[in-house]
Amino acid sequence: MTGILVTGASGRLGRAVIRSLSVLAPRTRVHALVRRADAAADLRRQGVHARLADYGDPAALAEAFAGIDRLLFISSPELRPAVRWDHHRAVLDAAEGVGHIVYTSVHGADHDPAHAATEAALRERGGATILRNGFYTEPFLVRALDDAQGGTVVSATSGQPLATASVDDLAEAAARALLAVPTPVVRELRGPAWTYDELAELLGVRLGRPVRHRDVPVGEAGPSGPLHAAAASGALAAETPDLGRLLGRPPRGIAEVLGQLPLR
Ligand SMILES: NC(=O)c1ccc[n+]([C@@H]2O[C@H](COP(=O)([O-])OP(=O)(O)OC[C@H]3O[C@@H](n4cnc5c(N)ncnc54)[C@H](OP(=O)(O)O)[C@@H]3O)[C@@H](O)[C@H]2O)c1
Repeated sequence: MTGILVTGASGRLGRAVIRSLSVLAPRTRVHALVRRADAAADLRRQGVHARLADYGDPAALAEAFAGIDRLLFISSPELRPAVRWDHHRAVLDAAEGVGHIVYTSVHGADHDPAHAATEAALRERGGATILRNGFYTEPFLVRALDDAQGGTVVSATSGQPLATASVDDLAEAAARALLAVPTPVVRELRGPAWTYDELAELLGVRLGRPVRHRDVPVGEAGPSGPLHAAAASGALAAETPDLGRLLGRPPRGIAEVLGQLPLR
């Protein structure tokens, strides 16, 4: 039986994918790629086969891809487009002999140079399953839950909706795509759209006291400001059916994700 390899397996998404695969696939097939020896040791303690390579080390990558037929290529978190593309090119070179690749891209990949180049390279290679992951729901909710302690959550969304997705749903979808019949396709993975007014109401219920939403200028909306501005323009509003189809159930909405977050 041929091997499955998951890159970025020590990251937030990668760890959740490994958890999903431990339920969905035979343990002997699954291999995790990490760049740190301590992360490899952690995974091995959990009974997961771990391989070591940095995206900047082509020789180690080639060795890590031996015997692998299916790859979940979790994109590099590197923010500099040229470096991210270098990382991605190195992974694609090392994956030359891999039968099928599932790649985690992003919402709006056409406007992101490294993701767009990677998607184009995958098409040239004969196709891959491209999962354009929506923005994670959790960071928005964690911040809002913190702010809600003071009775007000702020956003620069002008009341417009955001179709985000929970990390666990994106991870399970990636695991399912990896195990499915290989299909060269682009899937847009987003969950149900929500607004900050709805979130404030749910936070009030969770905390047992009124929480209101106040719209502020982008500069006052914190690290999510640029995404809020995108939401305000309507760019994050559209829901898509692909995530639910891959999961075989409705994706988690904000009420469910909020219910799973710890209260401090
Ligand atoms: N959709 C969204 O809202 C959203 C949010 C955050 C991130 N993302 C993107 O989704 C992808 C995965 O995200 P994540 O949440 O899992 O991020 P994460 O928690 O930061 O994990 C990144 C993973 O990549 C590994 N990595 C970093 N540099 C590497 C290198 N040079 N060589 C090999 N491995 C390397 C990290 O290893 P270490 O553990 O050793 O650092 C880690 O396993 C990234 O492309 C990220 O930019 C999307």
